[in-house]
Amino acid sequence: MDSKSATIIASAAYLPPKRVENSHFETYLNTSDSWIYERTGIKERRWAENDVKASDMGLIAAKEALKKAQIDPKEVDLILVATMTPDQPLPSTAAIIQSKLEGCRAPAMDISAACSGYLYGLSVAKAFIESGMYATILLIGCEKMTQVLDPEDRSTVILFGDGAGASVIKKGGSGLRIDRVVLGLDGNLAGSLCIPNGKKMQMSGQEIFKTAIQKGVEIIELLMEQEMLSMNDIRYILFHQANIRIMQNIQKRLLIPEEKVPTTIGYTANTSAASIPILLQSIPHEKNHRYMSVAFGAGFTYAGAVFTSL
Ligand code: ACO
Repeated sequence: MDSKSATIIASAAYLPPKRVENSHFETYLNTSDSWIYERTGIKERRWAENDVKASDMGLIAAKEALKKAQIDPKEVDLILVATMTPDQPLPSTAAIIQSKLEGCRAPAMDISAACSGYLYGLSVAKAFIESGMYATILLIGCEKMTQVLDPEDRSTVILFGDGAGASVIKKGGSGLRIDRVVLGLDGNLAGSLCIPNGKKMQMSGQEIFKTAIQKGVEIIELLMEQEMLSMNDIRYILFHQANIRIMQNIQKRLLIPEEKVPTTIGYTANTSAASIPILLQSIPHEKNHRYMSVAFGAGFTYAGAVFTSL
């Protein structure tokens, strides 16, 4: 690993102000705060107002990340937007964000990999930067999950929240060096979490739950082997925030100490492609540590990454 490695030099997150507690669902569904909290670890989530789109939240996070990185929008060479809730089918949400980033003329595209979208995007950014094709990439994960939820479906509506996160990625420098990204997909499970045309999200919760644990364990073991790491070498494992019990099951199987697993699930719920950059913003930057990240989602997609904090 050297100064040619792609590095996240700054990140930012945005959560809409409207907080929705579990008790909201008790008013019209056969559910309870205790059922939701015990089965998922979620206490509340943020919901965007009706006229706010994924691009609006992504733009706020992107501007903040660029400000922190001291990068002018003109300097951005490529914009990648990971989202499963695009503003509309065409143009891409990335194109809409580019048009609102003053002075930015960068090519831009969406990445559709559901909750694994941010790590899928990170792999694209790493490859473009290390090949020398681009020097500065803006990666955004933004989701308006409420636009694809059926408010009457108690098994899905309780699980998700809206939000956005963004990262600026460059070659070298201080921040989080991206040492390795691995990607995977099991298309046989495509039907277990989907949004058929004109319909709302449909999910086979137990199948997703079991597969997430199995793939999470596999990814962590693979990354530890590839990077020759023991659990002692890892400071944080940044899990996609879907359900506290998925994380706890993986922790138990791999003997991962609690303090290595920061969470936001209690107050964000599952924000899909925005979840990992939001989580990243919730922890202090500690230098000279190895971090790992693991994600899984519809597809069935899964992904992992190893970083060095510099
Ligand atoms: N309140 C009360 N009861 C409920 C609720 C609710 N909100 N939702 C479901 N139930 C009921 C079910 O109807 C079922 O009732 P029944 O036994 O009478 O049929 C009972 O609770 C048990 O249901 P299960 O599905 O077995 O509950 P489980 O313990 O598996 O928890 C959950 C359900 C929370 C959805 C869990 O399966 C889960 O978290 N799965 C993973 C979901 C996930 O992470 N999805 C996102 C993936 S990332 C992405 O790409 C978007």
